[in-house]
This record gives sequence, structure tokens and C-alpha cells, in this order.
Amino acid sequence: MRESSIDWKSVREDFPILDQQVHGQPLIYFDNAATTQKPRAVLEALRSYYEHDNANVHRGLHELSSRATEAYEAARARVAQYIGAASPDEIVFTRGTTEGINLVAQAWGGKFLRESDVILLTEMEHHSNLVPWQLLAERVGARLRFIPVRDDGTLALEQIDQLLTPEVKLFAFTHISNSLGTINPAAELCAKARAVGAVTLLDAAQSAGHMPVNVQELGCDFLAFSGHKMCGPTGSGALFGRAEMLDAIPPWHGGGEMIVSVTLEKSSFKKAPHRFEAGTPNIAGAIGLAAAIDYIEGLGRAAIFEHDSRLTSYTLKRFAELPGMRVLGPIGARGAIVGFVMESPHPHDLTTFADQRGLALRGGHHCNQPLMRRFGLPGTTRASFYFYNTIEEVDRMIDILRDAARFFA
Ligand SMILES: Cc1ncc(COP(=O)(O)O)c(C=O)c1O
Repeated sequence: MRESSIDWKSVREDFPILDQQVHGQPLIYFDNAATTQKPRAVLEALRSYYEHDNANVHRGLHELSSRATEAYEAARARVAQYIGAASPDEIVFTRGTTEGINLVAQAWGGKFLRESDVILLTEMEHHSNLVPWQLLAERVGARLRFIPVRDDGTLALEQIDQLLTPEVKLFAFTHISNSLGTINPAAELCAKARAVGAVTLLDAAQSAGHMPVNVQELGCDFLAFSGHKMCGPTGSGALFGRAEMLDAIPPWHGGGEMIVSVTLEKSSFKKAPHRFEAGTPNIAGAIGLAAAIDYIEGLGRAAIFEHDSRLTSYTLKRFAELPGMRVLGPIGARGAIVGFVMESPHPHDLTTFADQRGLALRGGHHCNQPLMRRFGLPGTTRASFYFYNTIEEVDRMIDILRDAARFFA
């Protein structure tokens, strides 16, 4: 695959945190599926907001409050544009993917799901796209159904017609698996769901910062993502909901900001999206997220995907050299995530061994306990990349893993 003309090594200089030693070795940060690092542009946007414009939004009739409100609403418009939403009103700011999914489960699900309705999920869901539906199912008496995962880490889509039946009222699934790297055919699945009248929710936690994501092209009803997994601040994120979906949902949190009028007995509520943002929002987070989007779009999501893919396929090729290495997930196209197990070290021991050499990996179940059980594993070690990672870092990881295999043997 031909690399784009971006000088990826110089891109690293935008990330001050990468320029450090950990345990006496240059830091290699391969835990990007958990959270990504932040470029100077995002750090500067946060600093500038707090230094010049900090005030509460939609409240004070003073200059700073107007500036804060303007920047916050401009951030909403930026997010809408980034994912192809028809209007900023289709964007609810959240703390991240988890909160977005909980909003839909509690507010939409609480209103529209009934006993014996079916919620269709997949066996590869992150706990964030599983536990909220379990809670809802228990509350309303709905049933959960799952698309199994094949041995190669893809969904068993030959079963989709038996599983996606008219009783399915909601189909929620991940765009990219955080353990397997599998990229699910989201547009095709949303179209199939629409054909049986099911509402769709796409978990874009691992895709929103890594590849082009456009809600019109995907045809989903809801989409949730986290700002911190795409260069933005922690505690930032957004939920997209098609206008008619959000308009039909009651509030889920009550408080300031989301009301039109309040008496002691009763309140009336603002329209979407403000109805879903009770209390003082994460104003700086939204502004930082918009700065992250500007930064990512400056590189281009197609170029980021190409760079990610190059690192991932190089890693898979080099992993084949290591004895006793088992890699999870598809051989072909996948996200920038490689989960693996080695014969001797347990994932936790391996992660600690790597950390001592400056390499940040992740070991454990990755909030995917049912998926780990499906593969008969207590957990895996995961290397996950972003555009500031390099081939040389992958080479260094291979050396460390080879040393680990020797050490633990
Ligand atoms: C696929 C997937 N969904 C949801 C989440 C939850 O994201 P957050 O913790 O930012 O809410 C994650 C986080 O790792 C994830 O990988």
C-alpha cells in the first residue's frame, strides 16, 4: 500500500508527551484503543479557553458567557460536520461512548421498548454496549439476542436473517472491535435492520478517530463516540441521533440548562439536544474536541486509516516470526488493533515486562469478558496504534516480545 505524502515522524512533534523516557527507555505508546495522546493544538485550545473565555454557557448575559456559549455551540456544529449529521441539533455532548449508549438505553429504550421486544447485539461488544442493554432488558422485560463471532473474529453474518427478525426493535453493534480489530460492515447491517423496522445504534468508539465516519452513508439512527480516543480531552464525546429520534425521546437527566419553565410541581423541557444536557456541561471538553477534529481533519481520516493499516499489517507479518504467538481477529482489513496471546507469559506479566522497557501495551479482558470466554481465554495482550506510531516502534516491540518469550520460558 502506498503511504500518503504526510511526514508522520514530524507529526510526532505535535505530541509533547511522546518525547519522554519511561523506565530509562524511549516511550512507545501502543495503548491507543484505551485512550490517545493529545496534540499541542488541543492543549492550546483548552488553555486559551480557560485563560480568556471561561464562563458558564447559555446563562450569563455578559461577554465571557457569550464567548463560551458561542465556542461551545460552534464545537457542536464542528462535530455535526465531522460525522455528516444533517444539523448540529442532532449532536448531544456526552462524557463519551458509554454515556451516549446509556442515554439511548434509558431514555429511548425506556420509552419505546416493551416486554418480549428483542435487542440485538453481537458477541464482540464492549461492556459499554452490553451492560446498559442488560439493565434495560431487566427493567422492561425485553430479550437480548446476539450475533455470534466466528473463529476468525468476524461476525457470523450467515445467521443474520434468523437473528434480525421483526421482533428486533433495536440493533446496537460496534463499528470496530476493541479486542479483535474487526471492522464490521456497518452500512450493510444498518440497511438490513431498517428493512425489519429496527432502530440502529453504532458504537464508533474505535472508528471515529481512525477512518471516515459519515452517519448519512452509514444510515444509522444513533452513533456514539468518545473524544479522548481521537486526540480530544477525557470526559468529552458525542451522541448523534437522527432529529426525529431525538425529538421523540424524553429527558434522561433533570436539572438546570435543559428546561423551558419550572413550577414546584412540573417542568417543561427544551428541544433536543439541550434537553439531554442537564447541568453545566463539559464546555472545555467540547472546545477541545472541536480542536481535535480540526487536527485530525488536517491530516485526513483516509490518510490516518492508511497509516494505521500499514502499521497493523506490518505487525501481523512480524508476529508470524515469533514462536507460540496466537493473534486474534481477521487476517485482512482491520482497525489499528492487534490482540494476541503468547505461549509463556500471561498477558499481565507480559504487559509489566513491556512496561519495564518503555512499551505501553494493555493486558486483560479489555471490557470484553464474554468475547474472551468465546475464545477460551482469560485475556489477551493488545497493541493498538495511532498515526504518531512508527514502524521502528513496531520493530522494538518485536524485540521486546522475543526477549519476553525467552525470559518467561
Ligand atoms: C468499542 C468500545 N466501545 C465503548 C467504549 C467505551 O468508551 P468510553 O470509556 O470512552 O465511554 C470503548 C472503550 O474502550 C470501546 O473500545
